[in-house]
Amino acid sequence: MPKILVLYYSRSGNTEKMAKVVAEGIKTVGDVEVELNYFVPVEELANFDAIVVGVPTYHHNMPIEIKKLFEEVAEKGIHLKGKVGGAFGSYGWSGEAPKYVLEIMKNRFEMKVIEPPLLAKYVPDQDKKNSCLDFGKRIAESLIDSG
Ligand SMILES: Cc1cc2nc3c(=O)[nH]c(=O)nc-3n(C[C@H](O)[C@H](O)[C@H](O)COP(=O)(O)O)c2cc1C
Repeated sequence: MPKILVLYYSRSGNTEKMAKVVAEGIKTVGDVEVELNYFVPVEELANFDAIVVGVPTYHHNMPIEIKKLFEEVAEKGIHLKGKVGGAFGSYGWSGEAPKYVLEIMKNRFEMKVIEPPLLAKYVPDQDKKNSCLDFGKRIAESLIDSG
């Protein structure tokens, strides 16, 4: 059964709200396993077929914690090539972080990324939560379609 990780960072809880609904969306698709977490040892990333990262934008960038995680993946030579990647996050006015995450996934780790990233301005409203559900479904279905 395909395994999907929803890994997020959230300082004031907005991206966390999105992460929970993205994970719910994944669960609506049968025959996939989902783990929702804010921390995963990098060695374990290799166990997932898809990695979806939730990142808020701070100071026009992704949080240092997520940047460090990617650096550790590179240092330790964790193999992410060919895995499905996605990104989402809450923002206030510019929202660059999820886009940067996808670029790293695609260019540095050769993951198959699902574009565009999903953004919510501050607290996700019901409309945005529905988009989070759909986003989760889309990620899960992409694994099932590709076998
Ligand atoms: C110190 C600080 C810096 C921020 N910088 C940016 C920024 O550069 N661009 C942006 O779009 N939002 C920025 N924001 C807004 C946050 O992205 C927004 O509050 C978001 O909802 C936080 O998500 P979280 O609750 O998951 O941590 C900033 C917020 C703070 C407190």
